[in-house]
Amino acid sequence: MDIKIRKVAPLQIKTPCLVIGVCEKTFSDPLLKELDQKLGGLLHKAQRNGEFTGKSGEQILFQPAGHLPAERVLLVGLGTKTEVSHEKIRLAAGSAMQQVTEKKLTQAAVALPLCAGEKSDSAACIQAAAEGLLLAGYRYDRFLSEKNRKVRKLPKSVTLLIENASEKQACESALEKAQKLCRAVMIARDLVNAPGNIKSPDYLAEQAQAAADESTLKCKSLGQKELAKEGFGALLGVAQGSVREPHLIILEHYGGSKKEPPVALVGKGVTFDSGGISLKPGEKMDEMKMDMAGGAAVIGTMLAAALLELPINLVGIVPTVENMPSGTAYRPGDILTSLSGQTIEVLNTDAEGRLILADALTYVKRYDPKLVIDLATLTGACIIALGYHVTAVLGNDEKLVQSLLNAGEESGERLWQLPLWDDYDQQIKSDVADVKNTGGRPAGTITAAAFLKKFACDFRWAHLDIAGTAWSNQSQPYTPKGGTGVGVRMLVAFLQKLAAKN
Ligand code: BES
Ligand code: MN
Ligand code: ZN
Repeated sequence: MDIKIRKVAPLQIKTPCLVIGVCEKTFSDPLLKELDQKLGGLLHKAQRNGEFTGKSGEQILFQPAGHLPAERVLLVGLGTKTEVSHEKIRLAAGSAMQQVTEKKLTQAAVALPLCAGEKSDSAACIQAAAEGLLLAGYRYDRFLSEKNRKVRKLPKSVTLLIENASEKQACESALEKAQKLCRAVMIARDLVNAPGNIKSPDYLAEQAQAAADESTLKCKSLGQKELAKEGFGALLGVAQGSVREPHLIILEHYGGSKKEPPVALVGKGVTFDSGGISLKPGEKMDEMKMDMAGGAAVIGTMLAAALLELPINLVGIVPTVENMPSGTAYRPGDILTSLSGQTIEVLNTDAEGRLILADALTYVKRYDPKLVIDLATLTGACIIALGYHVTAVLGNDEKLVQSLLNAGEESGERLWQLPLWDDYDQQIKSDVADVKNTGGRPAGTITAAAFLKKFACDFRWAHLDIAGTAWSNQSQPYTPKGGTGVGVRMLVAFLQKLAAKN
């Protein structure tokens, strides 16, 4: 799908479908007044009877029967003028894209009011609109045979309309940014959606290498032998039940000055989480192919940083293993010696994510990072606490947490902070080792973070639990069912702000 920017008056453009974003209580604006006239008063009628008032999520389709150059007019609601945000624009663009695709139209022109909030400019709104269009068009269809794939076809091209010719250049560069960012999000989604038979730790390492091959990223990975030599005892404990070799994937992006310490991103890469000997129940176990979504977010973000040439140094670390039960698997009761030297009593082999992250967080110290952010589908408890709409954030640095919360708001990938007081450390005290890998049922998300905190010392650190947000069972306007690619857009927003401060 090709996206173009053009300065044309919306009501003058010839297109199979003209999409117009409409705010509540703006029906007397000149554009909508003229449109209403051409439609013989249908617009005001729809408003009066409540069929379309401009609320976010509303849509209405008109066929102007020759009174306009456009064959159809699709109005999408954006909420009140004060409510409009980049996220509302993404959602509106996403749902318009769904309509246009459903109707099998080959082309559309989109006019959104370029006024989201006071601070933002047209370019940022164009970027949000392009993100909504591109991400709504995503499907994981590589395992569909030809005849099943053809059912759905995206429009050949979409034109984004702007009001001032003087803004064209800025809007074109915003569009280009959206294209790069969405490519990275879609790669993350592809990785999450890939089935467990295809997606081994080897596969993840190969895909990271592929991301490096198409960009300026550097990629290397440590295999079983090197990990054993270094002393990755916690990671190797998890890996030993699977016939598949574990890896530590390392991606590097040097966009900043030579001396500047990097920001480190760490992502959980469990390519399939059966629970191990503490086997999970069968229902929905298939979804545990998504247990590497943190790793996917890291690979996606690193690629985005390279494509967007972010002026910052970054290192992305993905510990990747498969968690399987077998005669060689680690057992409940085992004591592992982690890379940090701290010993860990394994009470439940299904609490494997924190084990591989522990070693990765220890490893990342060699980069002397400016700050560290880890992402992980870490706890089912996170879904119980917060559901599917928000990522949990915890950390040892309030300023860092606040910056992440802001980036979440801006990107539409929202976060909510949970406390990480020392009080919770009690729950993970072990009688026979330095720490145990579960803290029981109460506050499961917090005690998992309290465990990580023992390994995230000596640097500013935040932990994102994406258990509820990495996978969606319900399609949203620009997020189809399956892997969401969550984290990439939020982290890029965060890194852009951080780079601007340097
Ligand atoms: N990968 C799971 C967490 C998860 C569950 C993510 C559902 C997404 C959806 C993790 O490895 C896990 O199994 N956690 C256990 C921890 C417990 C044994 C302390 C959990 O949440 O039950
Ligand atoms: Mn698990
Ligand atoms: Zn897991």
